[in-house]
Amino acid sequence: MSLKLSEEARKKIIDMLNEDRAQELTAIIQYMGHHYEGEGLESPPILELFRKTAMDEMRHAEDLAERIVYLGGVPVYKPGQVQRGGDLRTMLKADLGLEDGAIERYRGHVKACAELGDTTTRLMLEKILSEEEGHADAFETALGRD
Ligand SMILES: [Fe+2]
Ligand SMILES: [Fe+2]
Repeated sequence: MSLKLSEEARKKIIDMLNEDRAQELTAIIQYMGHHYEGEGLESPPILELFRKTAMDEMRHAEDLAERIVYLGGVPVYKPGQVQRGGDLRTMLKADLGLEDGAIERYRGHVKACAELGDTTTRLMLEKILSEEEGHADAFETALGRD
């Protein structure tokens, strides 16, 4: 490994990426669940938004796992608490909550990677962060401004 990171920095980054990965796994299961559970409800475009967003989260979970392995860690496989059920509005609010949490967390982790001197991980997290902002925006738009 050509990274000039201390053992301590490497461990910190692996832990952060695993925290992010657990949340991505939560989002995948939650959004896919909303995609099937929303069947029969009124809005095909919103169901498609759940499906499409879940696929983005799969890419994020995979990118995080690849980086964790590269850094010598073991990727987590356990998601956090998934929110299920309710009408489309309830689902969208739950999903927006996950995205807001993700944005907050990725901002913190981008900053931490900059401080620890891991530019590659920081750039990866910045790219994911910008996609999470897009997701939050899409869920907000679907909810309408109220
Ligand atoms: Fe994500
Ligand atoms: Fe997202």
